[in-house]
Amino acid sequence: MKRFLLKRDGNGGCEAIAEECKTPTPSAGEVLVKIEACSLNYRDLLVKSGLSASGGGGDVVPLSDGAGVIAQVGEGVTKWQEGDSVALTFFRDWEDGPFETRYHQAARGGSCDGVLAEYVTAPAHSIVQVPKHLTTLEASTLPCAALTAWHALMERTRSVQKGDTVLCLGTGGVSVFALQIAKAAGAKVIITSSSDEKLSRAGELGVDETINYRKHEAWDKQVRELTGGCGADYVIEVGGPGTLERSLNSVAAGGVIYQIGVLTGFDPPQVSLFPLVTHNADINGIYVGSRAMFGRMNAFLSGHGIHPVINEEYSFGDALKAYASMEASRHFGKIVVKI
Ligand SMILES: NC(=O)c1ccc[n+]([C@@H]2O[C@H](COP(=O)([O-])OP(=O)(O)OC[C@H]3O[C@@H](n4cnc5c(N)ncnc54)[C@H](OP(=O)(O)O)[C@@H]3O)[C@@H](O)[C@H]2O)c1
Repeated sequence: MKRFLLKRDGNGGCEAIAEECKTPTPSAGEVLVKIEACSLNYRDLLVKSGLSASGGGGDVVPLSDGAGVIAQVGEGVTKWQEGDSVALTFFRDWEDGPFETRYHQAARGGSCDGVLAEYVTAPAHSIVQVPKHLTTLEASTLPCAALTAWHALMERTRSVQKGDTVLCLGTGGVSVFALQIAKAAGAKVIITSSSDEKLSRAGELGVDETINYRKHEAWDKQVRELTGGCGADYVIEVGGPGTLERSLNSVAAGGVIYQIGVLTGFDPPQVSLFPLVTHNADINGIYVGSRAMFGRMNAFLSGHGIHPVINEEYSFGDALKAYASMEASRHFGKIVVKI
């Protein structure tokens, strides 16, 4: 079979190479998945450049997110059968309950092998059924970006509902899923982008208000204006140190900032946390989610007929072009690689 491998150079960098290798066989308790599609996340760029918190030290098959069909079941596996359409979880061993730091030891495409391969083996506990209304191509976008948005908006504190306002930063994978989930839950959604064209695409998904953060550097003031001075109940904070101050200024009384991303880097933010005090607001760190959350999210996606927004498709041989496109931030929603 063919697979990609990130070969680490020992200095934090690595090269992605395509190679032939032996097709694995599932051990007891595992399944063999014939991968049909993978999707990219910004985190995959971080892993490639040695910056991800969940990147391991050795060579690794990249990409956390993939879906396909079970080709073989290992001894003792009764829940799954050959031919089942499944997606793999980001954290291989986070099945349910609160997060434990040990789960970092098996974050796919980082500290353990990922899915940019024709076949992968997976413990039977680390896969979920593909929602019936989705193709495996669509389902390949769910394990990281969608589940992160779902965990934030529907699982961590209170579930977003009608009457709430959700602020999504940018139009990448996490934020577009957050937009879709929040709209389906009946919330008002404000989204920011550097591109008017992307904002108009967000309009097609039903977004209520848009802000071009390049044209309106003080986008936090716009958020206040658009909410009658109240601010947003939930902020999907994917920017990190460069956006946190404005997110703090945007949050409503009793609201929550979900700290998710590092698009502006890893420097310590130079911000006053006082708005948290004056707004009785919270910040919650979110790191993807469990398999149980994944199952609940899939039921919601099916119930609301939500389809992931796939902006670009690449072939397996062009996987590195998919990385380059992700880096260029041209996409709206998700980029996928068909295997
Ligand atoms: N904690 C977790 O579990 C978790 C899970 C998934 C992702 N993440 C993190 O969340 C972030 C987003 O991930 P992703 O995969 O959704 O990324 P992505 O698909 O690459 O999205 C990137 C988009 O974010 C927007 N953006 C970039 N800089 C921005 C800024 N300064 N202010 C506002 N928007 C900005 C841009 O949108 P426009 O082109 O519209 O301007 C860009 O296209 C990354 O840092 C990633 O590592 C964390």
